[in-house]
Parts: sequence; C-alpha cells; structure tokens
Amino acid sequence: MCGIVGYIGPRNTQDVLIEGLSKLEYRGYDSAGIAVYTDGGLKVSKALGRLVNLENKLEGAPLVGSVGIGHTRWATHGKPSDVNSHPHTDATQKFSVVHNGIIENYLELKDELIASGVEFVSETDTEVISHLVAREYNGDIVEAVQKVIKHLRGAFALAVLTEYEPDRIVAVRHASPLIIGIGENENFIGSDIPAILKYTRNVFILNDGEMALLTRDSVKLMTIEGNEIAREMTYIEWDAITAEKGGYEHFMHKEIHEQPRAYQDTMRGRVDESGKKVVLPDFHMTDEQIKNIRNVQIIACGTAYHAGLVGRTVIERLVRIPVETDVASEYRYRSPIVTPETLVIVVSQSGETADTLAALREAQANGAHVLAITNVVGSSIARDANDVIATLAGPEIAVASTKAYTSQLIAFYLLGLYFAQVRGTQTEAQVAETLAAMQALPEQVESILTRELEAKAHAEEFSSQKHLFFIGRGLDYAAAQEGSLKLKEISYIHSEAYAAGELKHGTLALIEEGVPVIALATEQALIEKTVSNIKEVKARGGVVLTICYEEDAQELLKSVDSVFTIPKTLPLLTASLSVVALQLLSYYASLALGLDVDKPRNLAKSVTVE
Ligand code: F6R
Repeated sequence: MCGIVGYIGPRNTQDVLIEGLSKLEYRGYDSAGIAVYTDGGLKVSKALGRLVNLENKLEGAPLVGSVGIGHTRWATHGKPSDVNSHPHTDATQKFSVVHNGIIENYLELKDELIASGVEFVSETDTEVISHLVAREYNGDIVEAVQKVIKHLRGAFALAVLTEYEPDRIVAVRHASPLIIGIGENENFIGSDIPAILKYTRNVFILNDGEMALLTRDSVKLMTIEGNEIAREMTYIEWDAITAEKGGYEHFMHKEIHEQPRAYQDTMRGRVDESGKKVVLPDFHMTDEQIKNIRNVQIIACGTAYHAGLVGRTVIERLVRIPVETDVASEYRYRSPIVTPETLVIVVSQSGETADTLAALREAQANGAHVLAITNVVGSSIARDANDVIATLAGPEIAVASTKAYTSQLIAFYLLGLYFAQVRGTQTEAQVAETLAAMQALPEQVESILTRELEAKAHAEEFSSQKHLFFIGRGLDYAAAQEGSLKLKEISYIHSEAYAAGELKHGTLALIEEGVPVIALATEQALIEKTVSNIKEVKARGGVVLTICYEEDAQELLKSVDSVFTIPKTLPLLTASLSVVALQLLSYYASLALGLDVDKPRNLAKSVTVE
C-alpha cells in the first residue's frame, strides 16, 4: 500500500528520501511526494505517477535540507492526483504530514474543520490530520500530535514535520506498520524495512499505540500517551529481496498472510460505531435506486469471477434479488438483457482488465448503473464505473490472486448487508449477527495460517499427481472453483471443480484408484448430500481430503481419508475461510514441485488485451 520514509541527518535529505521511496516501489503506488525543511522554510514537492516524475520535478527545483519526510501513495480516498498525493500541509504550510492507513472518521472531522473556517485542497482523509496538528500546536509538536491522535479513529502510521521545530520528526504507529532506523548522527523512518536498508540495519520496530521522536542524534520511544519506552534495537539480517517480501520466500506467501489485515482494512470505516450496521460513505446509489433494483449482473474474469460466484449467493440470500454471473469475455457478446433497473457489478483486482472494462462499457451503453469492486482506486474501471467499492487489500504482486479475492468477498458481504438494510430483507439483529461473525474472520484466518505445516504435508502428498478434482455444494462449490484455479495456475496440476452432485453425471468416469479429490463440506444444510457424493468417489478408489469444520471432522473421517479443519463461521461467510486453506494447498504444491510460485508460466498479473 502506501509507503513512508523520513530522514534527519547530514546527508542530502532529498536523495535519501527518493532512494527510500524507490525501495518501496514494489508495493505499488500512483503518486509520490516529499517535504523538506530548507533555507526557505518547509517546502513540498509532489507528482502524480512514477517516482521518476517527482525526480524530474526536483531536478528543476531541488529541496535542499537536512530533515524531511516522503511518501508513495496508493489511492484510497480521492483519485490519484498531484493534489491528493502526500505530504499534506495545513493552510499556513508550516506543518506537513505523511500517512499510511485510513482515518475512519475523517468526514466528521472534515465537517468540523470546515465549519471552523478551514479550507481543504484535497479529497484525502489525511489532510484532516495536517489541519488538526496546526490547530493543536502550542510550541511542542509531540504534544500537538498526541492531542490529534485522540481525535482519530482507524488505522494510521504517521510522520509529522513542522517548520517551527526543524530538528525533530514525530512518527506514530497505530495499526499500520512503521520502523525507526538508527544511524550515527542520523535517524530514519520507514513503513517497511527496504526503505532504510541501504543506510542502516539497526531498527526499532514500533508496536501499535507507540510513537517516536527523532532528532539527529537521538530517538525517544514512547506510548501515544507519552510514557517513555525502553526497547532493544533489532538487527536486520535480511538481504534486499527478502526485505521486499517481508521475510517470506514468496510474495504469494506474504499476501496469503496479509489477509487478516486486508479483511480488517476492507471493513474499516464501513461498519458503524455500534458494530451493527453497514455504512458505505462513498456510495452514490440512493436508497430509492437500491429499492428499484430488479436484477443484478456480476461480471469479472478468473479469480475475480469466482468472487462474483460467492457474491451471487450472498446477494440472493440476503437481498432476494435475482443475480446472474458472467465471465466478462462472454458477457458483451451475448446481447445481455439490461434495463435501467439492472445493477451491474464488475469485479477486478487491477481495475485494468480489458475484458472487464469492455463489459462495463457495454453495460453502461445499455443504461445500467455500474458498480465496480476493485483494488485500484485510480484504475480505468474505477474511473469509468458509476460507483466504486474499494477493496483495501493493498498491492498484490504475486500473479496468483489471494488477498484481493478474499477482500472481494468481504466487499460482497458488506454490499449484500447494505442492500438488505435498505430493502428491509434482513432484520437489524440478523445484520448485526453477520457483522459480528465478519469481525471474527481475521482471527479465524490467523488460526488457519498457524497450521501451514499440515497443509504442506497434504500438498506434498498429492503434488506428484497429474489430475485432481475439487467438489462442493453451494458456497463450497464456489470456493472449490477458486481452489481449482489456484492449483492449476501455480502447480500446473490439471484440476477441475465440480458441483458435488454433478460429478455422477459424467466426470465420475475419471475417478479411479488413487485420484485425489478435495471435498469442501462446510455448507451445513448440504453436508449429508456432499457426504453421499464423497462416498461415490471413495467407492471408485478416489483419495479424499475434506475441508470441514472442526466439529464435523470426526463424523466425516468415517467416510474420507483425511481432513483439514477450519474454524466455524456463518454459512454465508464460509468461503472466506475455506479458500485460505485451498490457497495454502496450492502454494505448497507449487513449492513441492519447485515451480516459480510468484510468476507462473504463460500468465500476467494484469491482462490488458481481449
Ligand atoms: C488468478 C488471477 C486472475 C485474475 C483475472 C482478473 O489468480 O489473478 O484470474 O483474477 O485475470 O484480473 P483482475 O481482477 O485484475 O481483473
């Protein structure tokens, strides 16, 4: 996602900041900027697009000084643009702030600031922080920041610099990572280790709720309440590549592990304070438009299409509106029937997929309101759609999509609940129950991730096979389709996903002694029927691994060869847990086969041709 760097010391600050930002480029970004305290006071330079645009700008007007902060932005609030990029300043340009994360209550704070006469220049949530710091400043930047933090809700890592105290930088971590690098007569801030690795390997890793005050020759760590903290320095032994992968061997592995955070970030600011109601602050559809929806069409490609399959069931179960799903490359050529009461939802991680973009335009040309669920706010799809729900998974680098897919599921749950609220198809208690179950998902994913070795052992067992089948019913079938695609993509094992009840209508002919079958059996209402289908497989010699809830494991083990259990959640949410297990199975199968996990053959991350 966004990247932060900060520097105070004798080197050319501009160069250190640009070098640090360049090391964060791999995370994806759409604009960059720096603020440096110069002879002429605090100066800011920012540019849309690649870092080289900022470098070109600085070539003509360098910022010379010995303290500064910098940022690469991945748009969440407001489109990518010069003005929306960081650092943000207050009206007097004396305070500058860079921020990673999301301020949930920024609209409230913004209204309050506007009422007191403050003029905003950007559409970002971050700008409220710079105005608030200026308002609270009374001669001590640490105190001002501490006061401001009390007003903020959400996730944030901050670096704050003021012209009034150019020998100090303040850094804050609250649910968004930040480290402090220690040098000799110089100190650094980085949102990620690669940003500072060239200069130092000695770091303090801030914990949530902590802040740091940096001068040239000292770093003071404290809680955000101001209590001083004593901490051992950590020595970073990673090489540059390992550092980019956050210590993981592959981006895919890292991204699988980022899912608990991606779930939280995608929900952040979209559930009201009581935790019982969905709020979608940036949503344009009026209640009347939502009430008038007659049918929904979900269009996407690949993994995003599989998220749409889950989305279909979620919307149909929660809102009782008919939903069709279509792969984008087919949609526009089948003369789709669209009316002004049709809501078209396009789903795309990159927001640039040519097939999906073309389908979006086809739907709009036919008069549909198009809602995009996308991970890239400034993408073509986000720009062209009538409404956007951003999945806040952060940049996904591995070709095989993981955290983007599960964040798309979270977006569908939120959307389904929101529509259900507006159309009254779920009671308040039902919505609250689902939201409570959603809040538990990040921890439940963590618990699956602690059992990687189990997944590895299963994957190693089937990785020598040429063919594999996935079966499931209902949402288990939707998840099975994603599991099958994941396996094909990165292990090159041929696999098919079947609705468990459909197997006997032909494909059962392929089941023979030793053929591995992964059966998903979490849909409680359908479990007995799935077991019957599992028995059909077992009778033909298939070797069955079942993904199921812990409480069903004993009973299922009477019919299957092995189980991988997942924590229990509501039936509607099950795919967001079972798929994590399937991702691990694919990852370890690919690893066992010695393949290039992050860059599978023949595939590209963003498919911009039809
Ligand atoms: C598979 C995968 C692809 C994409 C598909 C659509 O792991 O990533 O199937 O899901 O190419 O891409 P986006 O979501 O960028 O439109």
